[in-house]
Formats: sequence, C-alpha cells, structure tokens
Amino acid sequence: MELKSRVALVTGSAKRVGKALALALAEQGCHIVVHYGRSAAAAGDTAAQIRQAGVNAWTISADLGDEAAVQALVPQALEMAGRLDILVNNASIFPPEDFLSATSESWDRNMMVNLKAPFLLSQAFARALPPERQGKIINLLDVAAMRPGNHHFSYTISKVGLEGLTKAMAVALAPHNIQVNGIALGAILPNVNDDPALFDRLTQKIPARRTGDPQDVVKALLYLLRDADFVTGEIIRVDGGSHLV
Ligand SMILES: NC(=O)c1ccc[n+]([C@@H]2O[C@H](COP(=O)([O-])OP(=O)(O)OC[C@H]3O[C@@H](n4cnc5c(N)ncnc54)[C@H](OP(=O)(O)O)[C@@H]3O)[C@@H](O)[C@H]2O)c1
Repeated sequence: MELKSRVALVTGSAKRVGKALALALAEQGCHIVVHYGRSAAAAGDTAAQIRQAGVNAWTISADLGDEAAVQALVPQALEMAGRLDILVNNASIFPPEDFLSATSESWDRNMMVNLKAPFLLSQAFARALPPERQGKIINLLDVAAMRPGNHHFSYTISKVGLEGLTKAMAVALAPHNIQVNGIALGAILPNVNDDPALFDRLTQKIPARRTGDPQDVVKALLYLLRDADFVTGEIIRVDGGSHLV
C-alpha cells in the first residue's frame, strides 16, 4: 500500500511504542489520528511532532474500557479526518496479577480494553471503508501469549484472544482487500511500574542478548503496511528470539 496521503488511526499513540509507530507513519506521509486515554498533554505533543513531518494530525480521547466510547471512536475519527485507511490497535493495559489473584473485574477490563475494543474498532473501520479502497489493520500482540503462563494473567489471555481475532479477521476481510496482521512484541520498553533492573536482567534470557527498541517494531509495521499486500493473518515476532527458548 502506498502510504503517502493515507490516514491512520493509532490507538494509545500519545507515548511510548504507539507514539513511535505514529511518528514513523507520519514520516511516510500518512496523516494521523492520535488516540489517547488519559495522556492529553502528551497526545498534543505527539500531534505537534507529527505536523512537523508536513502531514495532518488530530487528537481524540476515548476510554477503551467504555463500550459506548469505543463505538463512537471510528465515527469521530472519520468526521475529523475525512477517511481512514489504516487502523493500528496498540492501546493496552498490563496489570500485574496471577491466576489466583485475578478477579472477575480485572478479567472483564482486560478483555474490554485489549480484545473487545480492537474487535469493535476493526469492525467499524471495515464497515466504513468504501468497497473499492484497500485497508490495513495491525494488532499489537505479545510473544508471552504464545506460551501463556501465570503472570499478568488476564492480560495474557486477552492477547491470546487478540491473536485469534487477528487470524479470524484476516480471513473475513481478505475478500474486501483489508489485510489484518499482528506484531508480537518481546521486551521493548519496561512497563512504567516495572523495576528497570528487572528489565535489564531479562536481557540475559533473550537469545539476542538485548532488549528491543520501538524502532524494531516500526520496521515490522512498515513492512506489513507498505510492502506486504499479499500477507494477511501473519504474526511477526519482534523479540530477539525470546519465543524460541
Ligand atoms: N512495551 C513492551 O515491551 C511490550 C511488550 C509486549 C507487548 N507490548 C504491546 O505493545 C503495545 C504497546 O506497548 P506499550 O508498552 O507502549 O503500551 P502502554 O504504554 O502500556 O500503553 C499504551 C497506551 O494505551 C493506552 N490505554 C490504556 N488503557 C486505555 C483505555 N482504557 N482507554 C484508552 N487508552 C488506553 C494508554 O493511553 P493514555 O496514556 O493516553 O491513557 C497508553 O499510553 C501494547 O499493546 C502492548 O501490550 C508491549
């Protein structure tokens, strides 16, 4: 897909990985709808940086834990930007809990923000895309979901679901010329609540002997969006080989 003059909605793109993805798409000539939850000031800064690349940027807030707000997001983005060609489902929550400490509420919240919101946003995006136009959906996944264990329990299961959703939507939307792919991240950025030393210790367990960088994720994103029109339902693991050991 030619990226110049396309419009991308990137959820959770005020900061961190989502911001890097949004800025990289702007560098390719995409106009960007910067979705955020609570980080209004950071979203404004990201939009300002995007505009420096010579493209348009809009900011839009929506709590992805609130189904009505999720349902309103794509229509609002379309009203602002006029069209949408690309949806990047990046926003996510990552609360610490194991199987025994997980609650019904935490389960529901992880499933809503990390799985149901991407489902509803993707459906709204696909329904709104004119039949003659190509579309692309990218879901941000986690290599931990390939071997689900006993940490970040509800989060991990929501990402297992998102991996399945990626493949099922790829089948459903292929006839409509919408490609749906996933990027499964290993250790890229430490969680805000994590001890940075813990992240450093992780390095020893990664075959590449380093953690990743948002730019590693950007390269996978650009491949899938720009170059891979006959690739759908694929999951690219950006993890330095972690999933192999
Ligand atoms: N970082 C890693 O090393 C790593 C590893 C594996 C997988 N991943 C996946 O890669 C993606 C990006 O990772 P990240 O670490 O950059 O993510 P993050 O910082 O944990 O979260 C990204 C954004 O999600 C938004 N968000 C969370 N709950 C929301 C809600 N209820 N409504 C609206 N927005 C909400 C937040 O926006 P606001 O700040 O505006 O509220 C947040 O800035 C995620 O899907 C994550 O699961 C990351």
